[in-house]
Amino acid sequence: MNATTSVTVRVPAKVNLQLAVGPARGDGYHGLVNVFHAVSLFDEVTVSARTDLPPGQAVLSADGERPDHLARVPLDEGNLAARAAALLARHTPRATGVHIHLRKAIPVAGGMAGGSADAAAALVACDALWDSGVPREQLLELAADLGSDVPFPLLGHTAVGTGRGELLTPLPTPGTFHWVFALAEGGLSTAAVFAEYDRLRPDAPEPRLDHDLAAALAAGDPRRLGTALTNDLQPAALSLRPGLASVLDAGRAAGALGAVVSGSGPTCAFLAGSAEHARGLAAALRGLDECADTVTAHGPVPGATVL
Ligand code: C5P
Repeated sequence: MNATTSVTVRVPAKVNLQLAVGPARGDGYHGLVNVFHAVSLFDEVTVSARTDLPPGQAVLSADGERPDHLARVPLDEGNLAARAAALLARHTPRATGVHIHLRKAIPVAGGMAGGSADAAAALVACDALWDSGVPREQLLELAADLGSDVPFPLLGHTAVGTGRGELLTPLPTPGTFHWVFALAEGGLSTAAVFAEYDRLRPDAPEPRLDHDLAAALAAGDPRRLGTALTNDLQPAALSLRPGLASVLDAGRAAGALGAVVSGSGPTCAFLAGSAEHARGLAAALRGLDECADTVTAHGPVPGATVL
């Protein structure tokens, strides 16, 4: 039997339904209550064995429909997907070098955890390629070592993250929510948005899960969810990118059930009542100067999946 030489994994973007940010912890991070929701906007990550490279070493390539976003994807060992391959290789004797190809649809540096999703997908793909035998619990720990947002794409669906966002508890929700995402020109640095948050909110309280949001999710109620969406990083993202305020206002004026900056931005997320409503909202947002493009998606969807 031939050994597997290539594995492709499909991995979803996330939107934060609640992002409550506590005071800076002193280790460079903030305590969070972070409600992650996986949406049907997927990157595909293909890893292929490269026996001419040392175990765990990666070469990268990328393609996708948005050249401006592709230009921001690092194709060196600094890419989180390359670091994922190197980290897993240290835990399996069967590791090889790999070629990692990223097919990007998730906005780059857009607040939808695309880089973290690619790292999660690379972990799953290398695990399958090398038949590593690393237990799922340990894969989640390795994911957390790579970044606060890396464990969630392994799980998908909807979950609340505590700690620095990496300690996950699933939040089951019935039904499907429909979303529009307004993409912006250029990205925002997560670290810069957190630093701006510290400047604006030196007195941040301890974060707590919003009970209205939890009830809206448990009921699968989009109207209630729309009014419960919150993001403590939003004022910081708007401070760095003031033009986003008019995008949020335009979505609300066009009848969005809720409008919020996604994560550290600059992507803005709008909740719709149906797939048709989402298409109408997207059309209303597309003409805005500050909106480079729109995509529609639904959630929740499963996490990283081998194709
Ligand atoms: O964990 P990750 O590497 O994705 O975080 C990127 C940056 O975002 C961190 O270096 C930190 O500045 C900020 N961050 C934070 N608190 C968190 C998560 C991220 O301050 N809980």
